Amino acid sequence: MDEPLSKLVEFLKFPSVSTDSAYAEGVKQCAGWLVDLLKSIGLEAQLHPTPGHPIVVARNKHKPGLRTVLIYGHYDVQPVDPLSLWTHPPFEPHIEGGEIFARGATDNKGQIMAHILGVREALKHGELPVNLVFLIEGEEECGSTHLESFLESHRENLRCDIVAVSDTGMIGQGIPTLTYGLRGIAAMELKITGPSMDLHSGIYGGTIANPVTMLARLLATLHDDKGHVAVEGFYDDVLPIEDWEKKAWAGLPLRDEDLIKLSGVSQLFGEAGYTAFERTWARPTAEINGIGGGYQGLGTKTVLPSEAFAKLTFRLVANQQPDAVLEKVKAHLLKKLHPAVRLEITCGHSGEPYVMNPHSTDGLAAQRALQKTFGKQVALIREGGSIPIVQSFKKILGSETLLLGLALPDCRAHAPNENFPIENFEAGMRLNRALLEELSKPV
Ligand code: BES
Ligand code: MN
Repeated sequence: MDEPLSKLVEFLKFPSVSTDSAYAEGVKQCAGWLVDLLKSIGLEAQLHPTPGHPIVVARNKHKPGLRTVLIYGHYDVQPVDPLSLWTHPPFEPHIEGGEIFARGATDNKGQIMAHILGVREALKHGELPVNLVFLIEGEEECGSTHLESFLESHRENLRCDIVAVSDTGMIGQGIPTLTYGLRGIAAMELKITGPSMDLHSGIYGGTIANPVTMLARLLATLHDDKGHVAVEGFYDDVLPIEDWEKKAWAGLPLRDEDLIKLSGVSQLFGEAGYTAFERTWARPTAEINGIGGGYQGLGTKTVLPSEAFAKLTFRLVANQQPDAVLEKVKAHLLKKLHPAVRLEITCGHSGEPYVMNPHSTDGLAAQRALQKTFGKQVALIREGGSIPIVQSFKKILGSETLLLGLALPDCRAHAPNENFPIENFEAGMRLNRALLEELSKPV
C-alpha cells in the first residue's frame, strides 16, 4: 500500500462517531492523532477542547503580504447502524476495486486527508504560496455545536481571505464540480401523549384517542398530495431559482434515471413543477427522519400506546431563517393537533443555508484549479446537504467558502458500505496544490 493511502487507513480506524457518547474516547483519540500528523508535516498544530468534542487547528508560518486560506473539514463520522449491512466492519478499512470502504471514507476523512497530504507534498517542495489555516472539527455530524462560539472567540486567529472545503459531491466520476450553495437545516422532535399508561386496546380502543394515530394524522398535514409543504408561510423567504442555474442544471450529466437507479426506488417523487435537481438544491423540505411508539416486538400486542414520537428536519434554502421556519411549523402543528392528545415540541440544532457567486474572483480561481486537476469543464451546482458552519464563516469571519467536493453520488455517505475511490483521494491531493496556487494570486 502506498504511504498516503496507509495514512488514510490509520485515520479511518478511529471510531469517531460524534453523536453517540459511547464513542467519545474514539473521537478524542482521533483528534490527538490528527494533531500529531499535522505537526509531523511541519505545521504548528493545537487541540482545542470544547464542552463537546475537540477542535483541531493548524497553520504554517504566516507571512505578511500573502493571502490567507482556511481549509475546513471534520474528523467525526456518522453512526454505523445498521451494522449487519456492512460487508466489512466499518472501522476496519477495506480496499477493493480501486475503492476504500469504511465509515468516513468519503465523509469526510478521505477528503480532508487529501488536503492534508496535498499540503505535505507542497511543503516537501518548499514553502506554501499562501498563509494556511486548517480547522478540523469533531462535531459536524451533530450540528457543529461548539464551533460557532469558537469562531467568535478566535476570530482574529482565524481571519482569512477565503475558506476552502471538500465535503460536498461531484456530479459524476471525473467531473470537476464547484458547489456554490448548500441547504440549511432545522431539527425538531415531537412527542404526543394520550392516556397516562398503555391501555388494553380492546377495553379502551374506540373511545380514547390513540397517540400513534394522532401523530400519523398530524404528520400527514405537513405536505399536500403533490409534495408541497403545507405549512402557512413556509415558502415566504425562498429565493427563486435563477434562469442561468436552471439552464446549467438541465445540462448536467446526471439524469432522473440515474437517481432512480442509485436509490433503488421505482420512480421519483417531489414538489410538482420542479426538476429533481431544483427540488434538492433550491427548494426546502419537511422530512420525517424517525417515527415511533407502541409495540415494536415480534407478533401482535393489542395495546393502545400512551405516547408516540417523531424526529423531523427541515432543509432550508436562501433566504430562509431556521428560527422563523421552526416558529411557523410549531404554529401549524398546534393548530392541526387534535385536542384529545398533548403535544410537546423540542427544537434541535439548526444551520442557515448558504449561497455564493461562483463567478467571483475566488470562484473563478477554484474553477481553474478544478479544470487543471481533472482536465474537464467544471460543473456548477448547489447541494441539498448542509454544512451549517459555512454560513457562520461568512457572518463571523467575513469570508466566502469554496466547496470543492470529491464525493460521488454512490459513495453511500451516512449508510453502510461508505466508500471513496482512491483515484479521487489522489486527485484531491493534486487539487489542493492547484487550489493554493490559484488562490495565492493577488485579487
Ligand atoms: N458532507 C455532508 C454535507 C453534504 C452532504 C454536502 C451531501 C453536500 C452533499 C455533511 O457531513 C453532513 O452530512 N451534514 C449534515 C449536517 C447536519 C447533521 C447538521 C447533513 O447534511 O445532514
Ligand atoms: Mn461531511
